[in-house]
Amino acid sequence: MMLDQLPAQSPDALLALIKMYASDPRADKIDLGVGVYRTDSGATPVFAAIKAAEAQLVKTQDSKSYLGPEGDMGFVRALMPYIFGRDAAYLGRVEGMQTPGGTGAVRLALAVAKKAGVTKVHMGTPSWPNHAQILSDVMLDAALFDHAAPDGAIDLDTVLAIIKGAAAGEAVLLHGCCHNPTGIDYSPAQWDAIAAAFAGSAALPILDLAYQGLGTGMDDDAYGVRAVLSAAPEGLVAYSCDKNFGMYRDRVGALYVLADKAGQLPAIMSNLNALARASWSMPPDHGAAAVRVILDDPAMTRLWLDELTTMRSRIGSVRGQMAAAGQIGPLDLTALARQNGLFSTLALTKDQVVRLREDHAVYMAGSGRINVAGLHSGNIANFIRALKTVAG
Ligand code: LMR
Repeated sequence: MMLDQLPAQSPDALLALIKMYASDPRADKIDLGVGVYRTDSGATPVFAAIKAAEAQLVKTQDSKSYLGPEGDMGFVRALMPYIFGRDAAYLGRVEGMQTPGGTGAVRLALAVAKKAGVTKVHMGTPSWPNHAQILSDVMLDAALFDHAAPDGAIDLDTVLAIIKGAAAGEAVLLHGCCHNPTGIDYSPAQWDAIAAAFAGSAALPILDLAYQGLGTGMDDDAYGVRAVLSAAPEGLVAYSCDKNFGMYRDRVGALYVLADKAGQLPAIMSNLNALARASWSMPPDHGAAAVRVILDDPAMTRLWLDELTTMRSRIGSVRGQMAAAGQIGPLDLTALARQNGLFSTLALTKDQVVRLREDHAVYMAGSGRINVAGLHSGNIANFIRALKTVAG
């Protein structure tokens, strides 16, 4: 017997929180756990643009026969102007492929980096916990540095020193925007410095762009990716549509590669195709096809961008309301107004996080990360009251 040797693993903490929340009978419970957008009534509806695209797909799709490991290339190409802009000089050196969600894109990026000789990946902490899990699963060493204190400033000098000092065989994994879990992003000037550092470095940049459009705008949120790709000889960009098209469970993502020379792209893509074939054969089609239908249709594109703007402004308004609560004990909630995207991390102890859950039915990650979009007019006052009781 062999399978009986496997030690039990604890479930992914964030995904376990979904189940714990669902089984809590308290009517006033507050879900600030996993990163999904919610409206002011706490719902996560399907985008109207997606509904329209799905209706069109039902009418027009005449086959569900196999695609290749690269998935729907119409989808991959249609996204490119939104990520990279329309006239970047490096565009001729970029190619992409579809992946199962942003997780699939990160996994494929790390797997191909390893195949290309990367042995060590520098990563700012705290980070999305799955980054460390994927690194360990593909057996790459993680070298950790501090990204930022929970409500503090970015340590730019450290990240620049790491990029400049990296040897061949090292990669640096950065969040493109809406940093998960802190919401603390690099400013455009900081991205310019990071891009300049990559220009003269042996390090391979790997950028995870999972929340484009949920921070300050579609173009603004891509500033870092565009700056780095303009400067670095090579790079990888893992992309997710799971949040900005609300496609979570449909798993819609893409991986883009910047090659040093355009002529190297076919060989690089052939490696990615082989890795994808051995991992999942080909990505699920439906969600990416719906995104392609939207991006091929100006009216649906407008509708999608308007829905994204509504989400972004609601997140901004919740951040403003939280910031207005000022200081609660050691917690500086004004920092939330300077942070971006779905997440912020509150400087709570593990014990305070447990008390918030047990005594006040407030669910958040053990790190103190909150999904800002889980707050709305029906629960924000209760949440602030609970914070005052536990941390004030
Ligand atoms: C999150 O961090 O909540 C999201 O990225 C969802 C996930 O897959 O962890």
